[in-house]
Amino acid sequence: MADKLPSRYEELKAQVNFHNYRYHVLDAPVISDLEYDRLLNELKKIEADHPDWITPDSPTQRAGAKVSEKFEKVRHPAPILSLANAFGGDDARAWFERIKKLDDRVEKAKFVVEPKIDGLSVVLHYRDGQLAKGATRGDGEVGEDITSNLRTVKAIPLRIPVEGQKSKVNVPSHLAVRGEAFIPIKEFEELNKRLEEAGEKTYLNPRNTAAGSLRQLDPQLTASRPITLLVYQIVHAEGGKVPTSQWEILEYLKSLGFPVSDIPKRFDDLESAISYTETFNTGRDALPYEADGMVIKIDDLTLAADLGFVGKDPRGAVAFKFPAREVTTTLLGIDVEVGRTGVLTPRASLEAVEIGGVIVRNATLHNFDYIEEKDIRIGDRVLVKRAGEVIPYVIGPVVDARSGKEKKYKPPTKCPACNTEVEHIEGEVAWYCVNAACPAQLVRNVEHFVSRGAMDIVGLGIKIVEQLIEAGLVKDVADLFTLKKDQLLELEGFAEKKAENLLGSIEQAKGQSLNRLIVALGIHGVGEVMAGDLARTYGNLSTLSKTTVDELQQIEGVGPNIAESIVDWFARPANQKLLKKLKAAGVDPQMQRAEGKTQTGAFSGLTFVVTGTLPNFSRDDAKEFIENNGGKVTDSVSKKTSYLVLGENPGSKFEKAKSLGVKIVDEAELKRLAG
Ligand code: IVH
Repeated sequence: MADKLPSRYEELKAQVNFHNYRYHVLDAPVISDLEYDRLLNELKKIEADHPDWITPDSPTQRAGAKVSEKFEKVRHPAPILSLANAFGGDDARAWFERIKKLDDRVEKAKFVVEPKIDGLSVVLHYRDGQLAKGATRGDGEVGEDITSNLRTVKAIPLRIPVEGQKSKVNVPSHLAVRGEAFIPIKEFEELNKRLEEAGEKTYLNPRNTAAGSLRQLDPQLTASRPITLLVYQIVHAEGGKVPTSQWEILEYLKSLGFPVSDIPKRFDDLESAISYTETFNTGRDALPYEADGMVIKIDDLTLAADLGFVGKDPRGAVAFKFPAREVTTTLLGIDVEVGRTGVLTPRASLEAVEIGGVIVRNATLHNFDYIEEKDIRIGDRVLVKRAGEVIPYVIGPVVDARSGKEKKYKPPTKCPACNTEVEHIEGEVAWYCVNAACPAQLVRNVEHFVSRGAMDIVGLGIKIVEQLIEAGLVKDVADLFTLKKDQLLELEGFAEKKAENLLGSIEQAKGQSLNRLIVALGIHGVGEVMAGDLARTYGNLSTLSKTTVDELQQIEGVGPNIAESIVDWFARPANQKLLKKLKAAGVDPQMQRAEGKTQTGAFSGLTFVVTGTLPNFSRDDAKEFIENNGGKVTDSVSKKTSYLVLGENPGSKFEKAKSLGVKIVDEAELKRLAG
């Protein structure tokens, strides 16, 4: 019996390690959590009875004791190199031309394209197949020994080859591999949510969190963070052979049981490698981790090594960078804006900074609670993010960069536009200015009314709107339609021509569709899609104004809240007066009502999403065209989308539509479909 136990112990260790690998590396478990727990408990029981049997490769031994004071230094067996950057295809081509001159073999070289994960670069040492040491990159020559923290990362094998990986390859007696440790985006968001619910401080971004968690002294804390890793390089191999091409290295590492990305691809020429790389300019959002670019590597590692380096950058590889999305800058001040509905929103005024090719001077701070929760202070260095179509926003302060001179911010108690005391609705984060005559609200109201997606009055920008309100010529949006030329001529900057042009486009707007007018009214919760539904159902404003909450709820997509908000809007005396004024001014569009609830037109019952720039239609034109033909337009692609209308330079919607098998049409085809 006694001699049987150790073999059961060995078997259990191997099994638990194998199931860890299936779960954490392959993301494909082959047993249930319950069965796994059973194995683990049996293992723990044996270890409790025989503490002297325990070996470091036991899965129970991942989180060890605290490291005393500070990490030891580790000299790397070979320099841990960096990468030169390329910003776009032409930069990558220039790199290729440069190295072609140095070596004839480059002409025929193959390339491997890999994701450049934004995490912490680490080096793992295996001696006789056992994880012996793990270090940070440090200065590239000497790093810090963070073995005890890295051992808690379940994707890192404690022993290679991992059991069950039927690898016949021999493992060098000393193998050092390099990879990137990181926290996947979804896990990061879940971690922050948990912290928020526990009333604790949240983290700024996945990179800093992963780096911070691996470089603190308590392995228990590291173990509680969802850190994982992908490996991509062999830094050193002694006492055994390893492949000499990057592609084969990735395959080899995979066969040993290491986590390796499934994004890498090998190409026969640079152009194909660049094309693949460029698909990630938009496709990066589909990656489960933050990547700051892609790496293009010469596949033949002997050739790559012969090409040598420039400083710390090997010539045989180049980092193809994506435009940055997060930068730090200084928070100069906080302005308060009053929205159309009276909501006060804080806006960061920033030291100008470039993010992804755009100069950013302002960013949203969401609401006043957010400033308080994140402890954002005036004068702070702040992390600002601008991604895709999202408005730039302040993620939070870089607390370590504080000098002590930063000032806490106090939200205003009075509306900055009209000095009325602000009010708070119980349970809501927003603060409101409830003064219906507040000039700031009127400005926003008119601005929305004339905007492109609404009445589309060309030549009526915010400056002119402010002028008109200040001069007392516009007290509500209906006043726009009774403006006279001599009134305009009295305003600064207005000459004959400009006044005539403006009056011309106002006159034209009287003929805008009912859909647009409904959008323009700015009823809470009513966007373009719903405005289309309301227009088709009611045919004009006078009928719509008489509707009831129950009747509205018969329309698909209208819930009780929106129905109530619509009825409320029309019930208000000020709005009734406004409708009368609009009608008197000749703004009263009519629309053919749809029969019952069914929509008419070739696109009836179909849902469309538009992405990219279309040759003749603007976004709004395309929307109107689709809606006039009875179709619906939504913002995001789902399985329910009938067609994606594809233009030039499409966004990630294109990838999503492809992956969901949504039918894709161009503008010409769309017109054909409409008959
Ligand atoms: S290759 C010769 N490949 O990017 C090898 N680096 O400056 C040079 N990184 O901090 C690095 N993913 O940690 C390489 N697939 C990848 C990478 C990668 C992320 C990081 C690396 C380094 C930085 C390059």
